[in-house]
Amino acid sequence: MEMETPQRNIALDLVRTTEAAALASARWLGKGEKEAGDFAAVEAMRLSFAALDIDGTVIIGEGEKDNAPMLYKGEKLGTTRGPRVDVAIDPVEGTNLLAYGRPNAISVVGAAPAGTMFDPGPSYYMKKLVVSAQARNAIELDAPVGTNLLNIAKALGRDVEDLVVFVLDKPRHYPLIDEIRKTGARIQLHTDGDVAGALMAIDPNSEIDVMMGTGGTPEGVLAACAIRALGGEMLCRLDPQKPEEKEALAKTSIDLHRILDVNSLIRSDDVFFAATGISGGFLSGVKYTGSGASTHSLVIRGKTGTIRYIESHHNLDRLMRFSAVKYD
Ligand code: FBP
Repeated sequence: MEMETPQRNIALDLVRTTEAAALASARWLGKGEKEAGDFAAVEAMRLSFAALDIDGTVIIGEGEKDNAPMLYKGEKLGTTRGPRVDVAIDPVEGTNLLAYGRPNAISVVGAAPAGTMFDPGPSYYMKKLVVSAQARNAIELDAPVGTNLLNIAKALGRDVEDLVVFVLDKPRHYPLIDEIRKTGARIQLHTDGDVAGALMAIDPNSEIDVMMGTGGTPEGVLAACAIRALGGEMLCRLDPQKPEEKEALAKTSIDLHRILDVNSLIRSDDVFFAATGISGGFLSGVKYTGSGASTHSLVIRGKTGTIRYIESHHNLDRLMRFSAVKYD
């Protein structure tokens, strides 16, 4: 059999952008200033993208060009010397988690070949159901909660009472939380951060087995990069929460009834994903050490399925001599 020449793993480049965003924004941990932390991350991420040899286009970004000065949808990223890719970014996923010093604020980037990433248009919210590879065939988006949990438990060789379901702690989920409780399954409630929730749900080593509920659509596409790469499943459907969102979607050709699986959100195996911890939690947070800082990141390449956990030690004095990115 002829072997394919190994291609570049651009996730190893992308992780430098999530590290930069984490290093810049973690200074704002617990300070109650949501915008300042996010702005620091966006600026750092954009500067570090400028040096990357990719020909990228932002599909999931910080909003539309008119409202977002940087990393807006459609913005070109990279030197253009390199693969043509669609890019999904969230410099701080969990801006409130960072601002209020709670775990699981992370910086996240995904990339896939140009034209293969789902463009959610004006959709903000979608209903999601996420499981690891072992339970990928056990779920149906519209099945009763009890049926899904029973089938997931069977696929994992466990009892429903053993399962832990990640749910965002929002009033819209109170009925869902009641239903899960009735099945006997256990629940982890988080105020924010359903990309982290999805990452934990697909990781057989984490205590989370399933993620259920409605969260951000851009966050869903970002999580899909990792889920596609690792062979888990996410079933979802757009679930607009506000009249403005419904009106905006009604003007597009996007089908609100369609169930999307991970392969329709990311239509290629050649997908890359990188995330760096900011506030601590499932990925350790940024630790400043005086002259430097350490970061912990997760790097995934879809084509090979390789997962790397990277611990980096940054020398801030040296870094700032040649880098335009400021970390203080
Ligand atoms: P931000 O970082 O944009 O604040 O998003 C945090 C988050 O919790 C996401 O993880 C989640 O998908 C979404 O917000 C849920 O939105 P809402 O808080 O409006 O229910």
